Amino acid sequence: MKTAFEKTVLIAGASRGLGKCFAKKYLEDGWRVLAGVRREGSLHGLAEQYPDSLHELVMDVTDTQSVQEAARRAQNLTDEIALVINNAGIHSPSSFEVLEKTDLDDCAAVYEVNAVGPLRVTKAFLPLIRRDGGLIVNISSESGSIGDAGREKEFDYCMSKAALNMATKLLDNYLNVRGIRVIAVHPGWMRTDMGGQNADLDPCETAVRLAELFARYDRKNRELIFMDNEGNPLSW
Ligand SMILES: NC(=O)c1ccc[n+]([C@@H]2O[C@H](COP(=O)([O-])OP(=O)(O)OC[C@H]3O[C@@H](n4cnc5c(N)ncnc54)[C@H](OP(=O)(O)O)[C@@H]3O)[C@@H](O)[C@H]2O)c1
Repeated sequence: MKTAFEKTVLIAGASRGLGKCFAKKYLEDGWRVLAGVRREGSLHGLAEQYPDSLHELVMDVTDTQSVQEAARRAQNLTDEIALVINNAGIHSPSSFEVLEKTDLDDCAAVYEVNAVGPLRVTKAFLPLIRRDGGLIVNISSESGSIGDAGREKEFDYCMSKAALNMATKLLDNYLNVRGIRVIAVHPGWMRTDMGGQNADLDPCETAVRLAELFARYDRKNRELIFMDNEGNPLSW
């Protein structure tokens, strides 16, 4: 049933880490949250706390049918999505091995989640995304910057994030005439399953900081598309 919330956010990859923190932040701020999760019940706790505003949508971003089905369900919940956060991301198991030891056969699966997934989500949900004011945020990484690349490994991850940055630019070119902006944001190194416990940032503090960044993002600035968590431009 459709209810009257001021704003709706869709978060792909909301079951844990930064995605779950985004869900918490926007629920606290009174938004309706469509949380893309691979397993129903992933957000227990939050679901009980926000029974009217949190909706889990089962959605695997590598599976076109599941993304389309989630978009169909979303149409019954809201007329408009103001913000899409494409947050789902993975590394391959041998990502941190050097070339001789890494399994390149895993690259395609990482690319499917990190680079094609956000396109799949954007395509399926596009009819619902607010014209004249909608924002699509692709959670990228500084590791996708070719200009600043210093690493010698993580081929799967770095290449997929560089591809995501290109997808971001193409989408922004395409959707700008509808008043929809598309940006790629490096969240920083966070203490999550992906980032590990030695990382310097708390994911929920990062979600708060990023939500503020999205709210104050200057939509007229067509040059600022790939940025860090303070809104500073990053080198492509
Ligand atoms: N952590 C860092 O330091 C860091 C740094 C730079 C960028 N990032 C980026 O920030 C984003 C969030 O990272 P995180 O650290 O929060 O990672 P995380 O804790 O490992 O969480 C990853 C999320 O992605 C979801 N996901 C994975 N494969 C999916 C699929 N096929 N379909 C839908 N959802 C899927 C996971 O869902 P399941 O629970 O179902 O697996 C989970 O919700 C990622 O895009 C990552 O690349 C992270």
